[in-house]
Amino acid sequence: EKDKGLIRDSWESLGKNKVPHGIVMFTRLFELDPALLTLFSYSTNCGVAPECLSSPEFLEHVTKVMLVIDAAVSHLDDLHTLEDFLMNLGRKHQAVGVKTQSFAVVGESLLYMLQSSLGPAYTTALRQAWLNMYSIVVSAMTRGWAK
Ligand code: HEM
Repeated sequence: EKDKGLIRDSWESLGKNKVPHGIVMFTRLFELDPALLTLFSYSTNCGVAPECLSSPEFLEHVTKVMLVIDAAVSHLDDLHTLEDFLMNLGRKHQAVGVKTQSFAVVGESLLYMLQSSLGPAYTTALRQAWLNMYSIVVSAMTRGWAK
């Protein structure tokens, strides 16, 4: 319950500016693992990461990711209702060539975004609360990978 409060309170401010925060997160992700950029078809239309990061398709995906996080935060009390949706979402990511191992670096990028936006409000307890929620989302998505 304390975890939920930490997540809800922090998301209340971050969620008002989803796209800019999502851009911080994905800029970090492609910095940590530039190869992930090549999984997006639009990456063939731009040379280097900074160019790709301003393409409309990139912003669309960022928006989609932030909406999934928003849905998870709204469903903290009944995350299991998102199970089928997340499993399907995982299946779509398998189809575009994402590996489940990449979710670890996505998680790192999420924490990076939280830390840089929340500053001193980014505490060990808050970090752990987000990690717990993220790991539930990721394990549901991972169930979408065909065995
Ligand atoms: C769709 C890549 C992580 C949410 C896609 C697509 C690609 C992609 C290539 C299809 C094209 C598009 O719709 O833009 C990746 C990569 C990721 C990643 C490389 C990191 C390794 C995530 C995460 C979430 C997410 C963490 C949310 C928690 C979505 C959604 C769609 C999507 C909602 C649309 C699915 C649909 O069409 O129904 N992703 N993605 N993605 N992604 Fe990701």
